[in-house]
Amino acid sequence: MAQANPLHTRLCEAYGVEYPIVAFAHTKDVIAAVSRAGGIGVLGAAGLDPEEIRSAIHWIRERVGDRPFGVDLLLPASFVEGNAEDLEAQIPDGHRVFVQRLKSEGNIPDPKPLDKPPTSGIGPDMLRRARAQLDVIFEERVPIFASALGSPAFLIERAREAGAPKLWGLIGLPRQARREIEAGVDVVIAAGSDAGGHSGSIGTFSLVPEVMRLARGTNTLVLAAGGVTTGAHVAAALALGADGVWCGTIWQATNESETEPFQREQLLRSNSEDAVQSRASTGKPVRMIRSKWSEAWKQPSAPEPLPMPLQGMLVADIQRAIKDHRVEDWQGVPSGQGVGAITTVKHASQVVLDMAEEALGTLERLRVEPVEA
Ligand SMILES: Cc1cc2nc3c(=O)[nH]c(=O)nc-3n(C[C@H](O)[C@H](O)[C@H](O)COP(=O)(O)O)c2cc1C
Repeated sequence: MAQANPLHTRLCEAYGVEYPIVAFAHTKDVIAAVSRAGGIGVLGAAGLDPEEIRSAIHWIRERVGDRPFGVDLLLPASFVEGNAEDLEAQIPDGHRVFVQRLKSEGNIPDPKPLDKPPTSGIGPDMLRRARAQLDVIFEERVPIFASALGSPAFLIERAREAGAPKLWGLIGLPRQARREIEAGVDVVIAAGSDAGGHSGSIGTFSLVPEVMRLARGTNTLVLAAGGVTTGAHVAAALALGADGVWCGTIWQATNESETEPFQREQLLRSNSEDAVQSRASTGKPVRMIRSKWSEAWKQPSAPEPLPMPLQGMLVADIQRAIKDHRVEDWQGVPSGQGVGAITTVKHASQVVLDMAEEALGTLERLRVEPVEA
């Protein structure tokens, strides 16, 4: 009797794809390559303004045709609200003095002047800006919309009103998962603390089965995220009951990624111990490769990072300066703890195929033959 393909999960069935592998990346070329290779690419668009999002969607659609792809925004369910002036007033002087000290001790020059005010990113009017980004995503009828950081309630309503095809939500806690499942999201991405970028405190191995139990008997599918870098990780995620995987770090080490070459080098030489969590960049924990930036905020003299979006506002200029002037030892690329498994740079399509092949091989090796009567 022919064996069923263990990689053909409910996700593959629902989305008409070959592999249960989803790529989160900021480079549209990665997204197109992954969707064309039989996975699903989801573009991180939080840093793009609405018209940039529109042209990225057109670019991807021209390359992937009817294959599914998605767009992701960072929409926190909890943060400090207020206008820019009120929020600026909430930043303590001691924090500003500390950032100035880092700037002078690190010989970090001033940032280059901006030619236009930022229209995206983490700041005082992030939700207003996110609404404008959302309008484009829904107008363009992107097949999948994903939202990180717990999703504010308005989003789910807005998506339903717009007849958004599929709604996915990233969560780091079971209670967030419960809320999203009750709201009827199509896919919950259970992102363990191993994950690169914003990440919580519960490991992938513990979080995924708990979320699976919450989703049982509903129409919501569950993806495992956080530390998924190899085919063995994919096999482990399926063993935990997940319908597929969502990975981020690995795509930064692909030929198509716009990740800076020095950041790729950081990934190639790092292991799990180097991928530390810090609240210094946004106010919520972000996992990134250790650098002078993350270390500076761990000094005993460092203040406690502020909540979102105050911390992002406090450090916006120094972070821009670090990027503008390519101050490499002060930049740690966001990375998950699975980084130790990244040893070469490949094409994104090859990553998909290698992961699938290794996952199949792993599952085959573990297959227990029925005992002969
Ligand atoms: C460079 C980088 C940037 C990220 N930015 C976002 C983001 O803007 N929105 C989002 O939903 N998740 C973001 N994430 C988190 C990913 O969606 C995903 O949860 C994570 O990468 C999975 O863990 P892994 O990195 O171990 O594969 C980012 C991850 C990385 C590595």
